[in-house]
Amino acid sequence: MSHIQIPPGLTELLQGYTVEVLRQQPPDLVDFAVDYFTRLREARSRASTPPAAPPSGSQGLEPGPGLVADAIADSESEDEEDLDVPVPNRFDRRVSVCAETYNPDEEEEDTDPREQLSQVLDAMFERTVKVDEHVIDQGDDGDNFYVIERGTYDILVTKDNHTRSVGQYDNHGSFGELALMYNTPRAATIVATSEGSLWGLDRVTFRRIIVKNNAKKRKMFESFIESVLLLKSLEVSERMKIVDVIGEKVYKDGERIITQGEKADSFYIIESGEVSILIKSKTKANKDGGNQEVEIARCHEGQYFGELALVTNKPRAASAYAVGDVKCLVMDVQAFERLLGPCMDIMKRNISHYEEQLVKMFGSSMDLIDPGQ
Ligand code: CMP
Ligand code: CMP
Repeated sequence: MSHIQIPPGLTELLQGYTVEVLRQQPPDLVDFAVDYFTRLREARSRASTPPAAPPSGSQGLEPGPGLVADAIADSESEDEEDLDVPVPNRFDRRVSVCAETYNPDEEEEDTDPREQLSQVLDAMFERTVKVDEHVIDQGDDGDNFYVIERGTYDILVTKDNHTRSVGQYDNHGSFGELALMYNTPRAATIVATSEGSLWGLDRVTFRRIIVKNNAKKRKMFESFIESVLLLKSLEVSERMKIVDVIGEKVYKDGERIITQGEKADSFYIIESGEVSILIKSKTKANKDGGNQEVEIARCHEGQYFGELALVTNKPRAASAYAVGDVKCLVMDVQAFERLLGPCMDIMKRNISHYEEQLVKMFGSSMDLIDPGQ
């Protein structure tokens, strides 16, 4: 086998893709791959093209090589120095828990790629857990990142000596990335509420791959995220944290993205294309007794949807369908709650517009928000 040459960069490319798959668990690996690598190519060609003069009226958000390099340098220094990121845990921030610094641009190019690949595979391990077992304790130093293979888990956060549950994982998702990405103590306690199984990745390997990958993601998405109206009130570092957690999903024309009445676990921002919001309502105006779906809104690039059920803790109030090909950035409910608190007022204001709109269409409110919420 010694005559087989592994081209430089192959291992790193596949590692990046593999880790994104593990983190985002896309339903279709091929679609996800097409999209992931297309994005990567776009980001690369952006980075190697001299910056064009910004169109008049634009603020030149498209990153030229200098800006890209700056953004990465910023993200690295932020990461290494544990700078003024709004740390989601409630402890006082402290200087790096573990001092190893990793510069994503200094990948060990001179290491044999086969060695690198086997290092990653060796680093992944399975951990089985029992009911009530603490996988992570808030305040501890971060050791591993976990991908859920199966089992249910409670997320507990202690603040001012008071512990409350802020959410659950149900046989799906991953956790333990924050302490590793931002060099902070564990921000929450994770307790198994059933028997379960996890895939763990150790800190050093996680940082080697994810920190580098996050730098790439920032390149890919930063100009789009900067343009989303909802996120304008956030600090730049807060917006970059959103880029770190988002995944991307593609939908074909007519595909259903959200189903009315279902339990909600994600929030969506439209990256390209159009989304139609349809509702089945049991009001007098809807002659069909509620079986017919009626279009109530269209959402476009840069707009969001799927926040209502997360804010109200109710099932999805309407269904959402792709109109033509659609690309959405998707955030899970845990990240939504952690990172979008500052945007909550804007979202709630818009939710009250939904009510007005429904009253206008159907002659009665659908009781989207509980009184007092
Ligand atoms: P980390 O801080 O490394 O360890 C605890 C993990 O809990 C954290 O990473 C996140 O992955 C996860 N988590 C889920 N929800 C929250 C939340 N609301 N606040 C903090 N951490 C959370
Ligand atoms: P959610 O209830 O989570 O899922 C359906 C989404 O449709 C909802 O969040 C809103 O984001 C979006 N939507 C847009 N217009 C309306 C409306 N008038 N009433 C309810 N939902 C709406």
